Amino acid sequence: MAAAAATAKLQEQFDAGLQTRPDFTIDQPLARYGAVDHAVWDQLYRRQSALLAGRASDAFLSGAQSLGLNVAHVPSFEAVSERLMPATGWRIVAVPGLVPDRIFFEHLANRRFPVTWWMRRPDQLDYLQEPDCFHDLFGHVPLLTDPVFADAIRAYGQAALAAHARDARALTLLARLYWYTVEFGLMREAGAPHGVKIYGAGIVSSKGESLYSVESEAPNRIAFDLDRVLRTRYRIDTFQKTYFVIESFGQLFEALGEGVAARLADPAALLDGPAFGAGDVLAGDTVLTRGTGAGWLEDGDV
Ligand SMILES: [Fe+2]
Repeated sequence: MAAAAATAKLQEQFDAGLQTRPDFTIDQPLARYGAVDHAVWDQLYRRQSALLAGRASDAFLSGAQSLGLNVAHVPSFEAVSERLMPATGWRIVAVPGLVPDRIFFEHLANRRFPVTWWMRRPDQLDYLQEPDCFHDLFGHVPLLTDPVFADAIRAYGQAALAAHARDARALTLLARLYWYTVEFGLMREAGAPHGVKIYGAGIVSSKGESLYSVESEAPNRIAFDLDRVLRTRYRIDTFQKTYFVIESFGQLFEALGEGVAARLADPAALLDGPAFGAGDVLAGDTVLTRGTGAGWLEDGDV
């Protein structure tokens, strides 16, 4: 999808002389942020915070508060890490952009979350193909203050490292799981519209999907099931056709750690079996809301 754009961005930064270490980390180049970058952070932070009150999980909202992200400028990663480490042992590290899979898993397994350093432009507030600083930091890091969620991400890193080393085809399955949980997950919450709240980073960092995921009649909302998710393709170019809904971060910890590790001992069994379309509803699903499918594009699942 964004390979060409990502490559151009990396090239641009290479040319700009950022020193990238073997683990793809850099020192956050604070002096390179201009007034426009700070204004974009501030605008996005305010907009999403207002939008997410009552729609995002309480753990996300309190995490964002406690990390000091509301500073009206692009936060210092060091300052964020100083608040995050005492809570769960995690810290964030600056990277130029997307990093290779194995390197990414190694960071997670060691409680380091890679955060892209650069900010999107003002004309990209609503949509950006590749992750920028706002997506990575505002989207992913607040929940790393939650001990159970934080342990779940570390467990995913460990399971992914082992599975990837054994058989690179496991990547397809690992990507589906990450996509439908860490990026686009919902969790059950009594009293919320459709009985769900948001925890996925791809949703909380998007104005449109923050509304669509919890309020629209179009998508399916289906109870999370690990095997089902591992077999389900997804969309990278539109809002999701289906959201999988967890009961708790404890359930997520089980799935992202021991659950997926056991399944990926033999990825061929899953890869050779049926793969479901992004909008499919199956007989065995526990359906919370069945989508109308309004506005869905037919082709394009990955
Ligand atoms: Fe992400």
